[in-house]
Amino acid sequence: MHDQYGRTVDYLRLSVTDLCNYRCQYCMPPEGVCKRPHGHILNVEECIEVGKAAVRCGVKKIRLTGGEPLVRRGLLDICRGLRAIPGLEELCLTTNGSLLPELARPLREAGVDRLNISLDTLRPDRFSWLTRLGHLAEPLAGIRAAEAAGFTHLKLDTVLIGGFNDGEIGDFLDLTRKHPWEVRFIELMPMGPCAHWENACFLPGEAVLERYPVLQPLPSQGVARRYCLPGARGTVGLISPMSHDFCGDCRRIRVTADGKLKGCLHSREELSLRGLHGADLETAIQKSILQKPQRHHLTDRPSDTPRTMNQIGG
Ligand code: 5AD
Ligand code: SF4
Repeated sequence: MHDQYGRTVDYLRLSVTDLCNYRCQYCMPPEGVCKRPHGHILNVEECIEVGKAAVRCGVKKIRLTGGEPLVRRGLLDICRGLRAIPGLEELCLTTNGSLLPELARPLREAGVDRLNISLDTLRPDRFSWLTRLGHLAEPLAGIRAAEAAGFTHLKLDTVLIGGFNDGEIGDFLDLTRKHPWEVRFIELMPMGPCAHWENACFLPGEAVLERYPVLQPLPSQGVARRYCLPGARGTVGLISPMSHDFCGDCRRIRVTADGKLKGCLHSREELSLRGLHGADLETAIQKSILQKPQRHHLTDRPSDTPRTMNQIGG
């Protein structure tokens, strides 16, 4: 289905929990978030029902997000239910990778097609500082487990933070020489804990190209501009929500773990899907698509959303 600006909306990001076993500095408060009573988040059947209604509205790809989706009880049932929806072309999942050693194979068997794994630094000390509760060995073991389980075209998502990991851009690019992965650099967005971080932390994706002019352009994919090192097995993606006006290419809607539909990550507008079924659910989704904001205003001010990233799902 098209929105009022002529954009095709065919991609749903469905958050299945706002809990996480890490506490990344830019994403979550140090104390984490309160575990909410089960009734506050969509149950397994509701998640699947939302997925079905979204596919009837033209969605072809669903990505499960969090928080950390792998800590959600019933995740595999949600995956199986969504995968069985006729017309759904792709079921993807974004994870911090830490629980993939146990869950990569079951996720594959439950029908997940593709994984994005967040990896912001390759230095163990920095990783522990950034995630507060994590160890670098965990996502690295997760990546190996994902490959062993048969996931191909892995994407590694790195949020660029000036003064933190920009000295590692070369190390990340090197990964693409040996591995058929897409390493993606994502610009830090001012929301939640990082909304008021100093300007130097917000590095434009262009910094990657300036420092590594050998990168050769490839055709873009969705909101990612893509490149590769000559002769490399993998590719490089730049996701620049801040420095590039990519809203014109946005095809997505989001549903939060507590069942609110958001047309834009950064907008305050939310529509509750709780208690809606069948045609009513479809009508609500269509209404939200039509009201999808034209663009965000992050270059003028921090995100308008009062939610932190773990409460939306990226
Ligand atoms: N800016 C950019 N990306 C963010 N993420 C979380 N918070 C931010 C932010 N402020 C990313 C995580 C992960 C995904 C869940 O969202 O690093 O890749
Ligand atoms: Fe968890 Fe991802 Fe947020 Fe880090 S960025 S705290 S891994 S949800």
